[in-house]
Amino acid sequence: MAFPILSAEEAAELIKNDDNLGLSGFTASGSPKVVTEALAAKAVKEHEAGRPFKVNIFTGASTNTWADGALARANAINRRTPYQNTPDLRQRINSHDAHYFDLHLSELAQKFRYGTYGELDVAIIEVAEVFDNGDVVLGTGVGNVPTYASRAKKVILELNHVLPDSMYGLHDIYMPLDPPERREIPIYKPSDRIGEPMVHIDPAKIVGVVHSDRYDGIKGFSELDDVTLQIGANVCNFLLGEVHAGRLPKTFLPIQSGVGNVANAVLFGLGDAKELPPFEMYTEVVQDAVIELMKMGRCKFASTCSLTLSDTKEAEVLANLDFFRNKVVLRPAEISNSPEVIRRLGVIAMNTALEADIFGNINSTHVVGTKMMNGIGGSGDFTRNGYLSIFSCPSVTKGGLISNIVPMVSHVDHSEHSVDVIITDQGVADIRGLDPVQRAERIIDNCANPMYRELLHDYLRMGKGGQTPHTLSASLAFHTEFLNSGDMRNTRW
Ligand code: COA
Repeated sequence: MAFPILSAEEAAELIKNDDNLGLSGFTASGSPKVVTEALAAKAVKEHEAGRPFKVNIFTGASTNTWADGALARANAINRRTPYQNTPDLRQRINSHDAHYFDLHLSELAQKFRYGTYGELDVAIIEVAEVFDNGDVVLGTGVGNVPTYASRAKKVILELNHVLPDSMYGLHDIYMPLDPPERREIPIYKPSDRIGEPMVHIDPAKIVGVVHSDRYDGIKGFSELDDVTLQIGANVCNFLLGEVHAGRLPKTFLPIQSGVGNVANAVLFGLGDAKELPPFEMYTEVVQDAVIELMKMGRCKFASTCSLTLSDTKEAEVLANLDFFRNKVVLRPAEISNSPEVIRRLGVIAMNTALEADIFGNINSTHVVGTKMMNGIGGSGDFTRNGYLSIFSCPSVTKGGLISNIVPMVSHVDHSEHSVDVIITDQGVADIRGLDPVQRAERIIDNCANPMYRELLHDYLRMGKGGQTPHTLSASLAFHTEFLNSGDMRNTRW
């Protein structure tokens, strides 16, 4: 090996207070594990010695308990973007210990190249294989590695021994030129390959290689229950209706599916919906359900940024890469989430809301309007540019204390202009071509839980004119009632 072998602690010593760090990976997949854990331990020691130590973390998306988790527990994160989902970091963000700014995932790499966030001091990159000329084969997630590797002053590699050499060939690494030289990204179908299987890193920048041997540490999903199964069935019936009506081609279009339990259930629904043809995906994450769909022959191909698999599923896939090799391509986030490609391919975007309002606006990120949950992720990249943009969620949460259909969302991530269809366990509201009041009636009747329908109809009736008849003094009454009594059903107009 042409590069020095370092312990995780030695690598952490190369990182200074206030450094800008670029981490590999996407949604925990392919994120660094041992160097960040050692860095957190170093931060604890620095704090104990009375010295400040915080770093600025730029990633592809969420990471894992050894990166965001450990660094947040050590209170060692200053600035952080984009998507995150570890409980410790979420707490630091909501207490303002960590300064988090949320961003569409497709935009971070180019913003870095444009110089928006300053220089990158160190990139920490998990790899499956490293060659003496600096070429590396990545692991289960690509994220923003091509940009971080090219911009960082120093690169630390984590060579993860659970990743087999047969990872070679799964990735398609491509970095667009920046304006005014940018040209079209020449992807015309999900399986098109336009780049190279490896990332080229200037060997002079590689300061060391650290060994590791950990899976990505992703938990399995909640068991499917009646509610999530019903949401999945409603999504599939809606899509089937669109094919029958001729609004979707009979050959179908590529699917994007979001993150979390609800998205997982929707994908399982697609496995059962045999009336729909086998399909391709142009998406940013491949969750466990997609692997099952591939084995069943329901999903023919997935273009993605990461294999976001639970540890047992990851082990299964890594042991059977020959089966998956012609069914998956892993791309950088700015390509998997490229608005240009999503619009060209006609992607069916299916994402999850925390809450939707009766006029069609979506909150995916803020619990009761104030507490950051995870971030917008790629949902905006796909929703705004999709052929068809669907949001799903259960009609109620916490046994009915919270209605996920509200008069006005307490935070807006996706506006009414980008949303075509809202789906809950109660049914489907296709709001295309409807004016605000028509949209409200359809969303209340088809998607709200019966225990909230009358309250929502009363709210709508209360509105005194205007195209979107809000009563501003009452528009957040559901939320304030929840904060006061813990039960939105107690709301009175
Ligand atoms: N108000 C308050 N809490 C709510 C809520 C609401 N309206 N709706 C859901 N929640 C809570 C749930 O109770 C649950 O809490 P718990 O962890 O204490 O049980 C939690 O939010 C997650 O809800 P769940 O129904 O399990 O949803 P999920 O796992 O499908 O995740 C999102 C839903 C919205 C959080 C998730 O999809 C997300 O982060 N989306 C934004 C990013 C994105 O869409 N990326 C897509 C491109 S891949």
